[in-house]
Amino acid sequence: MFETRLTELLGIRYPILGGTMMDLSTAPFVAAICNAGALGILASAIYKDYDHFRDDIRAVKASTDQPFAVNINLFPVMDKLDNFQYLQIMAQEGVKVVETSGFAPPPDIIARIKELGFTWLHKCVGVRYALKAQEMGADAVTVVGYENGGATGKLNIGTLVLVPSTVDMLDVPVVGGGGVVDGRTMAAVLALGADGVIVGTRLMMSTECPIHLKLKEALLEASELDTDIIMRSVGFAHRVWMNKPSRTVAEIEARGGGIQEIYPYVAGEAARRMFHTGDIQAGSVSCSQGIGLIHDISPVAEIVESMVHEAAYTLAALVDPGRRGQGGA
Ligand SMILES: Cc1cc2nc3c(=O)[nH]c(=O)nc-3n(C[C@H](O)[C@H](O)[C@H](O)COP(=O)(O)O)c2cc1C
Repeated sequence: MFETRLTELLGIRYPILGGTMMDLSTAPFVAAICNAGALGILASAIYKDYDHFRDDIRAVKASTDQPFAVNINLFPVMDKLDNFQYLQIMAQEGVKVVETSGFAPPPDIIARIKELGFTWLHKCVGVRYALKAQEMGADAVTVVGYENGGATGKLNIGTLVLVPSTVDMLDVPVVGGGGVVDGRTMAAVLALGADGVIVGTRLMMSTECPIHLKLKEALLEASELDTDIIMRSVGFAHRVWMNKPSRTVAEIEARGGGIQEIYPYVAGEAARRMFHTGDIQAGSVSCSQGIGLIHDISPVAEIVESMVHEAAYTLAALVDPGRRGQGGA
C-alpha cells in the first residue's frame, strides 16, 4: 500500500518518516518506528561522546532489520561534536541514510555525504531552500509547514501551500509534513503530490516515546490553540506547547529580553527534567498544531497502521462517496 518513490528510495514499507525528536529519538523508539514500517531517525546532536553514538546505532541495528537514518543537525550554535565524525561512524556501522536539518547544508558536509555514498534527505521550511538542497544533490527533500512541531524558520508557509509549491519545483521525491497526525492528514499531503509524509508530534504521543506519561496526558488535553511560536526574536523560531515556561519566554520576547534571559526556560536540561520526572512546567517541548487532533496514546505500530489504512480509506471514499459512513480504519 502506498508504494512511492520514497518507499523505493529508502526500502521502507510505508512512505512515512518518523521525525527526528532530539532527546526523544532514543534507540528503542527509533527501532519501534522502523519496525512499524516507517523510517526512524536517530539524532546525532544529543551525543556527547562518539562511543555512545556508536552504541546506540548498534542498539537500533540489534532491534530492527529495517533501514534507519541519522539526523545531522546543522544549526550553527549547537553545542555538539564534529559532524564529520558522526558520518564516519555511520559509514563504519553501515548506516546508509542521513537526514540534515536546522540550517543550509554546508558544501563540505555534503561532499563527504556523497563520497560515503549515503542517501541524503534534507529537511527545510521553504521552496527556495528545497531547490537549493536538490541542486546540491539531495536524494529527497522534506518540507514542513508552519503548523509543525519544532523549528518553523521565518517563512511561515502552511503545509497546504508549501507542499504543492515544492512538488511543482522539484524533480526529486518530496516529503511533506507539519500537522500530519492521522490518515486524513496523511492522505491530504499525498494528494498534494508528496511522495511521503513526516510525522513528529503524533509519534511523540506513542506508548514507546520516552517522555513521562504525565506529560503525554497533559498534551492529550491540548487543543490546536495551545501551541505557539517562541524564540523568533532570537532567530530560532520554534512551535512549542504553551505551558508556563513557554509563556514566560513569549513575555520576555515581548518586552525585548534576549537569549540569556530566555535560555533557562528552553534549555535541554529543563526539557529533560520535564521528560523524565513528569513535572510538566519544568521546561519547554516542541509541539504541532496537530496536537488538537490527537486523542489517544497508542503503540507506534498501531499509530502507523491506522494512519495508513485511514489514508487509503479516505482517498478511496473521495472517488467512491458510497463508501463514506461505512467506517474507516
Ligand atoms: C518534541 C519534538 C522535537 C523535535 N526535535 C527535532 C530535532 O531535533 N531536529 C529536527 O530536525 N526536527 C525536530 N523536530 C521536528 C520533527 O522532526 C518533524 O519535522 C515535525 O515534528 C513534523 O511536524 P509535526 O510535529 O506536525 O508532525 C521535533 C519535533 C518535536 C515534536
